[in-house]
Amino acid sequence: MKIVESRSEAYAQVAQWRQTGASVGLVPTMGALHAGHLTLAERSTKECDKSVATIFVNPAQFGPREDFSRYPRTLDDDLQGLRDKQTDLVFIPQPEELYPAGFSTYVEPPSVALPLEGVFRPTHFRGVTTIVLKLFNILPATVAYFGQKDFQQLTVIRHMVDDLNIPIRVEGCQTVREPDGLALSSRNRYLSLEQRQTAQSLSRALTAVAKQVGEGILAVEPLEQSMHHILREAGIERIDYACIVDRTTLESLPQLDRPAVALIAAHVGDTRLIDNVLL
Ligand code: PAJ
Repeated sequence: MKIVESRSEAYAQVAQWRQTGASVGLVPTMGALHAGHLTLAERSTKECDKSVATIFVNPAQFGPREDFSRYPRTLDDDLQGLRDKQTDLVFIPQPEELYPAGFSTYVEPPSVALPLEGVFRPTHFRGVTTIVLKLFNILPATVAYFGQKDFQQLTVIRHMVDDLNIPIRVEGCQTVREPDGLALSSRNRYLSLEQRQTAQSLSRALTAVAKQVGEGILAVEPLEQSMHHILREAGIERIDYACIVDRTTLESLPQLDRPAVALIAAHVGDTRLIDNVLL
């Protein structure tokens, strides 16, 4: 596994692979890798001739009061995990490599970035679209893998790729969970044992809603209320949102008469967690 820090080396390697006709899979991450990230890497290796991962904690997608400086960094373990998944190349740039002095161009995200996370983290998706487009340019892959765990992020990236005619295919990958349902997240390591129990209520609320829908309850309001109820019962006081929206436009809908998604963002102690389920 080759590890590079410079843009030029990263580009040269991927461009050379592409010139020989090899397909290249790309897995962008912020490190602190867990089994969820590693299934993306595994799928990339399986489906593509060459596989590239990136590890970069992107300052542009963190708000001023968010956890950028304390975001977990576990580089040695990350590299071992990627090696185990037969990743061929890892790009680990320093911040100056991607945001040199004088950097001032950002990608204006699509309208699907406005609701949900967009309300609570107003500059987040601008940081995501900017870094992802930069990575797509530095690493001109055939296909890029993103997790459904960050459903709105996946939707934002799909729209960006369509709108800006980016020649990369985007693949969404299923959310990997703990046996008790908790979606794997780099931020789970902030949780105490007790908070870990509380955090489980996110997936419990989503599973309950999916079950209710299966039983024929299709009015959105009572379904959203039931999610709020389960979260509050578990002791969660700060719920940013627990709602059901159209799966493509992310607009709210009164009735489940088309593909939808239920999404939750909630605070457990100082840790903000997100999760979702397709309906
Ligand atoms: P990060 O949070 O490190 O996630 C990297 C990728 O792993 C994302 O596509 C995310 O959706 C996926 N992922 C996270 N948890 C997962 C889980 N439990 N199951 C399956 N996939 C999971 O998302 C980012 O980084 C950044 O915003 C990034 C796209 C790298 C841009 O900086």
